[in-house]
Amino acid sequence: MAVAIDLSGRSAVVFGVANQRSIAWAIARQLHAAGAALTITYQNERMGRSALGLVEGMERAQAVECDVLDEAAAQAAVAQAADTAPLAVAAHSVAFANREDLDGAFSATGVEGFRTALEVSAYSLLPVARAAAERMSEGGSILTLTFHAADKVYPGYNVMGVAKAALENEVKQLAAEYGPRGIRVNAVSAGPLNTLAARGISGFSNMHEIHASRSPLRRNITQEEVGAAALFLASPLASGVTGHVLYVDAGYNVMGV
Ligand SMILES: NC(=O)c1ccc[n+]([C@@H]2O[C@H](COP(=O)([O-])OP(=O)(O)OC[C@H]3O[C@@H](n4cnc5c(N)ncnc54)[C@H](O)[C@@H]3O)[C@@H](O)[C@H]2O)c1
Repeated sequence: MAVAIDLSGRSAVVFGVANQRSIAWAIARQLHAAGAALTITYQNERMGRSALGLVEGMERAQAVECDVLDEAAAQAAVAQAADTAPLAVAAHSVAFANREDLDGAFSATGVEGFRTALEVSAYSLLPVARAAAERMSEGGSILTLTFHAADKVYPGYNVMGVAKAALENEVKQLAAEYGPRGIRVNAVSAGPLNTLAARGISGFSNMHEIHASRSPLRRNITQEEVGAAALFLASPLASGVTGHVLYVDAGYNVMGV
C-alpha cells in the first residue's frame, strides 16, 4: 500500500535557519512542500536578515527570532507555529562551540567552553521538546541533527563530539518519555555538509574529502537528502520509528578502514 506524505492542515516549526545552506532550511523546505504550515526560527537579528528573506513571498510560512537558550522564546516560537495549525513537527537544527574549542587538544577544553557547547548544542533540545510536546495533542514528531563524532573520534570536532553524544542520549530518553503520548523523537546523523557551522570545524575540508572517497556511495551527501530523511521521520511513514539515529552519510559510518 503506497502512502503519500501529506502534512496539510498541520504545522511544523524548524529551529536553526542561518541561511539557504542551513540543514534547517533544507528540512523546512521539504516539510513545507509536503503541505505543512511552516515556522522557521533564526537566532538573532543578524541571522534574521537571511531567514526572513527565505520565507518572503512564501505562502503558509513565517520566520521568528528565537535564541534556544531562552525558554520563553522557544515557547513563543512553538506557540506561533501552533497558532497556524495543529503542531505535528518540531525540528531542532542548532549547534555552537567556541572556535578555540574546535581545534587543538581536546584535553585543553575549559569549563566555560564545555558548558557553552553542551548548553547550546545538547541542552537546547530540552526546551524545544518541552514546548513542542505540550502542543502536540494529536501526537507528533520531534527531530534533531547529530554527527558520527557522537560515537567515533574526529580530531578537531573535540567538545562537539561530547555534545552530540549527550544529544543522542537525550533523543532516547525523550522518546521513552513521550512515546505513550504518540510523540516520536529521532535524530538524523548527517555526513559533512558545507554550512556556516561546518566552517568553524578545523579540518572540515579534509573530513569532507575523506567521506567522499571512503563512503560506500563514494560521494558526499546533500542538504536535500537530509531534508528528505527528516520528512520521512516526520511523516506517518515512520510511525513505528522512535529513539532512532538515522544516518544520512552515504554509508560512511559502516566502514572500518
Ligand atoms: N554541516 C555538517 O556537516 C553537519 C553534519 C552533521 C550534523 N550537523 C548539525 O546540523 C545542525 C545544523 O547545522 P548546519 O550545518 O545546518 O549549520 P548552520 O550554521 O546553518 O546552523 C546552525 C544553526 O544554529 C544556530 N544557533 C547557534 N546557537 C544558537 C542559539 N543559542 N539559539 C538559536 N540558534 C542558535 C545558528 O544561528 C544556526 O542557524 C547542527 O546541529 C549541526 O551540528 C551538521
